[in-house]
Amino acid sequence: MTDLSVPIAKPEHEGVAIPPPLWLLAELTYRCPLHCVFCYNPTNYADHSHELDTAQWIDFLRQARALGAAQLGFSGGEPLLRDDLEMLVAEARKLGFYTNLITSGIGLTDKRLGALKEAELDHIQLSFQDSTQELNDFLSHTKTFDLKSRVAKLIKAHNFPMVLNCALHRYNLPHIGRVIDMAFAMGAEYLELANTQYYGWAHVNRSQLMPTAEQLKEAEAVVERYRKEIGEKCKIFFVVPDYYETRPKRCMNGWGQVFLGIAPDGAALPCHTARSLPGLTFPNVTETSVREIWYESDAFNRFRGSGWMKEPCRSCDEKTIDLGGCRCQAYLLTQDPANADPVCDKSPHHERVIEVLRAASKRQEPQEQPIVFRNDANSRRFAERERPQKGGDEQP
Ligand code: FES
Repeated sequence: MTDLSVPIAKPEHEGVAIPPPLWLLAELTYRCPLHCVFCYNPTNYADHSHELDTAQWIDFLRQARALGAAQLGFSGGEPLLRDDLEMLVAEARKLGFYTNLITSGIGLTDKRLGALKEAELDHIQLSFQDSTQELNDFLSHTKTFDLKSRVAKLIKAHNFPMVLNCALHRYNLPHIGRVIDMAFAMGAEYLELANTQYYGWAHVNRSQLMPTAEQLKEAEAVVERYRKEIGEKCKIFFVVPDYYETRPKRCMNGWGQVFLGIAPDGAALPCHTARSLPGLTFPNVTETSVREIWYESDAFNRFRGSGWMKEPCRSCDEKTIDLGGCRCQAYLLTQDPANADPVCDKSPHHERVIEVLRAASKRQEPQEQPIVFRNDANSRRFAERERPQKGGDEQP
């Protein structure tokens, strides 16, 4: 057990107080019954198959709550594959967390929903891949559409507030009106229409998934029309794809500012996909206290503040607004996580984003490159390919 009574010497960075972590994501497992082509889990997840046990998760939750964390998502992979999920939710509620289950719905039976109700779970986020069985089942490489539809009814029968989530891309953007109809008919209080962010498996499949500018424009118009019709009965969040922006997103609301993610094996991550960045060693909650991880570790301090920035970010008058954008995207597109996110049109690498959009606008069906499903065999192949570079020489 970690001693929580030790005072923090100086929780500040570059002379500015470090705020406590508010938003926790507990990725309980990388195991998943679905094989989604846009999954943000690391492509080499097969190399990280170890999972924390129940006591280790509870110890982490206790420490994080003592630091001030308040919001907790249980995610994965599929968190329902952990049979201690209900116990973890109950413990988190006792500690005072607001709890959210982020699930594909596979395995969410009437019995488990009853147990989660008893554990006082606050909220459920259920993912669909599309409004049609055909595309839902293709994108997840499973036959799960009917099952998910039944689960949505069960969630409402147990009186849980429900967010329906659908990742958007080239395949399903033309169905956006039907996705909204489906969410409304299922009684979802919220609908999250998040355009795919190109990390992990989505990055591998980027040329297949990237929408055209016309598709996005039409989809936004449909969303606006529905917002006026439906109003507050189902709140629709439409997250635009940043490749089509000229300024980057303030990713995770700043590195080490709000978000603390814990991977299944206990690695502490400042964002969902940080594990893909070279030159960083992520501390593990089984070896280091959450307090030390958050306030003192190199991984969490590396991109805090603005001291790490290069030009053009360093002298940019907007640097405190977007904080240079996304480190993972900078790495994926420029091979240097300390570069400006190339979504920014001030970045010398912005042309790399434009090239991707140009290719998307010219793309003809069918694609030569096959779509890659998230599964263990593919992950082992990625792991094999990435292993020699691990801890490699591309230091930020
Ligand atoms: Fe890692 Fe943006 S996803 S910093």
